[in-house]
Amino acid sequence: MDSDRLGRWETRLAQIHSSALAEIEQAGDEKAIEAIRQRYLGRRGGELTLMLRSLGELPAELRPRAGQAANEIKNAIEEALETRAAGLADVARQRRLAAEAVDVTLPGWPIPAGHRHPISIVRAEIEDFFVSLGYDVVSGPETEYDYFNFEALNIPAEHPARDMHDSFYLGEGALLRTHTSPMQIRYMLAHAPGLPIRVVVPGRTYRRDDDATHSPMFHQVEGLVVGEGVSMGDLKGTLLALARAIFGENTAIRMRPSYFPFTEPSAEVDVTCTVCGGTGCRTCKGTGWLEVLGAGMVHPQVLRNGGYDPERVSGFAFGLGIERMAMLKYGIEDLRHFYVNDWRFLSQF
Ligand code: FA5
Repeated sequence: MDSDRLGRWETRLAQIHSSALAEIEQAGDEKAIEAIRQRYLGRRGGELTLMLRSLGELPAELRPRAGQAANEIKNAIEEALETRAAGLADVARQRRLAAEAVDVTLPGWPIPAGHRHPISIVRAEIEDFFVSLGYDVVSGPETEYDYFNFEALNIPAEHPARDMHDSFYLGEGALLRTHTSPMQIRYMLAHAPGLPIRVVVPGRTYRRDDDATHSPMFHQVEGLVVGEGVSMGDLKGTLLALARAIFGENTAIRMRPSYFPFTEPSAEVDVTCTVCGGTGCRTCKGTGWLEVLGAGMVHPQVLRNGGYDPERVSGFAFGLGIERMAMLKYGIEDLRHFYVNDWRFLSQF
């Protein structure tokens, strides 16, 4: 009778054991594992818990064996639950790692590098050329006094040359400088009577202009050389070397008589057309030449205004438009391209 009871006890345990193991095997996540734990080992209503509680109903002499058998099964189920939980955690970890994995052999996203604006490129080329000849490079104020922009450069009020300069006036004798030439006076005054003077002044200038070749804000580079015996030949040699540095070795220049109040004589300087090489085309209107800058020998009155004695020293000066140089160098037909910040345009340089 007792051995029957024990037998039934053990059969029941074996059923619990095998069905628990089968369920654990099928458990797909932590929640399922917890549900199985509650079903078999839960404090309230767990199947094995209930059996252990009913141990007292067995005859005293059976209890040790029955209890031991139940505890073994309990331990076995607990162990199986833990093993399965650890296995599931492992799979989850592997999945997460796989999802987070970075393939370091994949090519990266190209990051477009910025670069200099064409105006800056040409400006730097011009500066480099003059630095290699020993020139100083300085900048000056964009807000200028009427005196430096006009008066000291031999352009008195009512002088017709002021009309060519459609200025932005700021009031109280000040304006946005219409050219970089006022720096001729400022630089001479700062260095007189020191010799020689060799300086270039790149910078922004402003005029009330607006069309395909004229912008209200544009850039010039002023050049000034003062010394004993400085001649028109020096000016021509310097400008020829500049033209070749910027436009190539086959470039020639030509000087045409012109007029500026602050130079005498004055010249308009042309370079061989960069499009046709001098044979004549639409860009140069069939002449083979393109105008790039104004220049001349510094007017005696301007030397005096700068603190130099025109009986003792002479000088040459020139003023070029950087936009104009860049348009010729790169074959750009409309100056306004420089200022609309269109990436398709800018990325070509
Ligand atoms: C002058 O400004 C004189 N100061 C140049 C000079 C200096 C002569 C020293 C003699 C001695 P001009 O007004 O021609 O000259 O202008 C010089 C250059 O600036 C022009 O050849 C042109 O390339 C450029 N320029 C003038 N106005 C504009 C504008 N609105 N937009 C773009 N470029 C301009």
